[in-house]
Amino acid sequence: VSKLEVDLSNIKIGDSVTVKWRGKPVFVRHRTNDQITQSELVPMSELVDPQTDAERVKIPEWLVLVGICTHLGCVPIKDSGDFGAYYCPCHGSHYDYSGRIRKGPAPLNLEIPEYIIDGNLLTIG
Ligand code: FES
Repeated sequence: VSKLEVDLSNIKIGDSVTVKWRGKPVFVRHRTNDQITQSELVPMSELVDPQTDAERVKIPEWLVLVGICTHLGCVPIKDSGDFGAYYCPCHGSHYDYSGRIRKGPAPLNLEIPEYIIDGNLLTIG
């Protein structure tokens, strides 16, 4: 079982970094208060794959996602798209600050890997 440790103290508020875990990109985003509030307020009726923000994060400040588009597997671009967070340029899927699909052909929200956060240490896997 391969686990990956990430030091969160180097990731500034508002930044999304990409790490590699089991050959896959994983996005780790230090969300701003605005991004958290915005994610919490989205009505479930607007979501293709309805999940509350609380179901998708363990600590509101930290969003951890497998960075593989749920459409056909491209790697989305950070800080991009109509919802500001991630955009997959292959066929135009837009994801929000909770990693939820909001527009485009992807059927599901970005996957969340198993992880734990202990202080400044994120352990994925
Ligand atoms: Fe991302 Fe098709 S692979 S939109």
